[in-house]
This record gives sequence, structure tokens and C-alpha cells, in this order.
Amino acid sequence: MSEPVKFLLSERDIPERWVNLLVDLPGDPLPPLNPQTLEPAGPADLTPIFPIGLIEQEVSSEPEVAIPEQVLEAYKLWRPTPLFRARRLERELGTPARIYYKYEGVSPAGSHKPNTAVAQAYENARAGVKRLTTETGAGQWGSALAFACSLFGLDCEVFMVGSSYDQKPYRRSMMQTWGATVHRSPSTLTGSGRGQQAHSTGSLGIAISEAVEVAASREDTNYSLGSVLNHVLLHQTVIGQEAAAQMEMAGDVPDVVIGCVGGGSNFAGLAFPFVRRVLGGQAKMRFLAAEPSACPTLTRGAYRYDFGDTAGLTPLMPMFTLGHDFVPPPVHAGGLRYHGDAPMICGLVRAGVIEARAYRQNETFAAAVRFARSEGIIPAPEPAHAIRAVIEEAEAAREADEERVILFGLCGHGHFDLSAYDAYLAGELDDPEFSTQEMEEALRRLPEAPALA
Ligand SMILES: Cc1ncc(COP(=O)(O)O)c(C=O)c1O
Repeated sequence: MSEPVKFLLSERDIPERWVNLLVDLPGDPLPPLNPQTLEPAGPADLTPIFPIGLIEQEVSSEPEVAIPEQVLEAYKLWRPTPLFRARRLERELGTPARIYYKYEGVSPAGSHKPNTAVAQAYENARAGVKRLTTETGAGQWGSALAFACSLFGLDCEVFMVGSSYDQKPYRRSMMQTWGATVHRSPSTLTGSGRGQQAHSTGSLGIAISEAVEVAASREDTNYSLGSVLNHVLLHQTVIGQEAAAQMEMAGDVPDVVIGCVGGGSNFAGLAFPFVRRVLGGQAKMRFLAAEPSACPTLTRGAYRYDFGDTAGLTPLMPMFTLGHDFVPPPVHAGGLRYHGDAPMICGLVRAGVIEARAYRQNETFAAAVRFARSEGIIPAPEPAHAIRAVIEEAEAAREADEERVILFGLCGHGHFDLSAYDAYLAGELDDPEFSTQEMEEALRRLPEAPALA
């Protein structure tokens, strides 16, 4: 018993506040812009699709935001989540690094996404909304929202990216079990979907346009976004706060915090409580974001104002973008197929606080299989990118003979992604990369907006 593997908190240790990093960011905040006026988008731009409670959180200038009692009650269904020391992976890699992972796959939907889904469903129910629409890539977000809507008595309508709809039929079954209606996107139910029938594999950008269009056209319906926006990142900070307490139990402080980035909410959730300490001068550590080479927003994107969706229905956001109409190849990490990233994450990459690396599909699955064969848990393809980065860091520590402490986010299990594992094990996965020509074309189609420094 001298070598603990799990660091566990009790229900009374669930954080009672979310960490709002917006107030700590270096430089003046860059507001989203109304695409018609190019003036900062205000609450009036958001009220047609979001409840006031979430809009207040989106722009809050308080360093912490209290978590409502009903949300804390829902969190008790799976929180606190465990922190593991990856002793077997360390031995397998022969590294002096100490590797820890915070496992969010224990939630009902199997990922970190319910942390914000329950907070969003609660605020919408409180505002009298009857129905939520959303998009989903891998199906993780859609299932999280379907679950959350079932807790708060809301109807839920999900536009699921075509390639994931085909690859992950049981994610659809899960959403339907929680009572949601699921459409393959691009669908013929919306103008945005009808205009994109040529892109049959779909994209997150197209699915967002469909869900926003439905929400904007119905009084009783709001839209819910699973990442990117400030309030979504805020809700996820329960992860990092718990992880900080658990790292303390383990008697270690991370040298490097690693996570995968799709829109950036999982990464922010784990990292932001630690980033606050670094920006405040109380700690020194590195932050490493891992993304797919097929959709390399942080490593290859242009730092510009762009729409959050394909049809151009959202405000313009300052971010690293591959162009709002970019349709990434149908890689299995469906949750990482988004053309942009959260403005807060992009600002921190720009400021040099967060480093980013991109990985190809086969090397990512090789890392996931190595992890599964040493630690047991089969990771979702998204956090497999983080695991690839962890292995690189652990090998670098071995080369440097250095006791590096690595903390990473294992933000979901891969139980509904086994067709992707089948394809990898059969040697059938390809390694699509984003081309320079694609970037040049995307830049030509970016909307008119002020340049970013
Ligand atoms: C398991 C998992 N990890 C990561 C992501 C990426 O999203 P984000 O960067 O917002 O955490 C998703 C998105 O669907 C996901 O399902």
C-alpha cells in the first residue's frame, strides 16, 4: 500500500465556485464583434439564443462565480472525479517523470462535457426555456446535453456531424435514451443545412449553424454550445480545482499541464486554476495544448476575427482560425474538428503562456493503445492527442534525466469509439494534414474585421 495510484476527494470537496480567468488575462480583453456593425457585441446580440444567467457569466468581471446549489447537487452524481498516478505507464516508458491524470470519463456521458451541460440546462430551465438545440461532433457533447436536459425537464434537439453520426451509432442511441431528438448534419431541416448538402461528412461549423438557426427562430428554444465561449470554460474549472487539491494530496506540483484542444474547454478546465497561479507570480509551470494535424488551429491558424459557425450567424470572435467554412477531414477525434478555438485560449497562446503541438492520427492512436495496455482505460480519440504529448514529455525527461511532474486531462473514455480503434488496429487509418493551399484559400474568405495585434 506504500504506492498510491488513486487520489480521491469526498463529495464535500466539490468546488463551490468556478474560476473566472477572464479577469487575469494579460492586456485588454478583445470583445466579440457584431458582424454587421463591427462594434463590440453586447448582451442584446446574445439574448435571442442564451439566457441572461449565462450571458452574465460570459462577461463577468468577478474572479470567482458561485456554483448554484442545484448544479452542485447534479455534480454529485459523478464528482469529484479521480486523479490517477500513471505508475504503470511510467514504468513502461522507463521515465523518471511522474505522470498524473485527471479522469473525467466517470461522468454519465463519459467525458468532461456534463460539467457545463448541467450548468447550462439549469440556467435555461430557470429562465423558463422549454427546449435546447445544439451541435455535436464526437457525440460526447450531445449526449452530455441530452443527459443534462433530462435532469432539468427540457427537450433537447441535437444536430450531429455526419461523419460522427455514421461512425458512432451508439452515441445517438445514448442521446435518444435520455430523450433527445438527433438529426444527421447537414440536414434538410434548416437553410444552413440545405446549403451544405455537398459536404456530406459535415463539420462542427455547419452543425452549429443549424442549431443556432432553429434556436433563433423559436421563442421557446435556446441554443447551447459545448465549448469556446467564456461561460463554458468557466464551468469546466471544477476539473482543475479538484486536480490542484489532489496533486497536493500526492505531494507534487505539476511542471507541465497537458490537454487536448478542440474548442478549448477541457484544456481550460484543467489548466486555468493553475494558469491563475502562474499569471499571479505564485507558481511556474508550462502548459501544453495538443491538437490534430488535420485541424491544426493553434499551430497553423491565422489570428483573426472570424465567425464561430459556417453560415456566419454568430458574432465575430478573436481566435486562431482555419476559416469558418473549413471542413476538416473526417478524422476520428470528432470533438477536435473545429475551425477555431476559445478566444481566452488563443489569447494565452498568443501571449506565450500556452504552447501548442499538432499530432497525426496514427501516432495518436499508437499512444492511446500504449496507454490502454499499461493503465487499462481506453481513451477517447481526443485525449489520445494529450497522451501523445505526455509520452513525448516523459521521453524528454528520460533523455534529460529529469524528474518532471506531468499532469494531463483524460477527458473521456473511448467506449463508443471502438470502430476507430478497429481501423487503427487493421492499419486502415490515414494521416490527413492541413495544407498551405487550404490555409491560403481560407484566408481569402475571412470576414472583414479589424486586424488583431
Ligand atoms: C472527449 C472529448 N475531449 C475533448 C473534446 C474537445 O472539446 P474541448 O476542446 O472543448 O474540450 C471533445 C469534444 O467533443 C470531447 O468529446
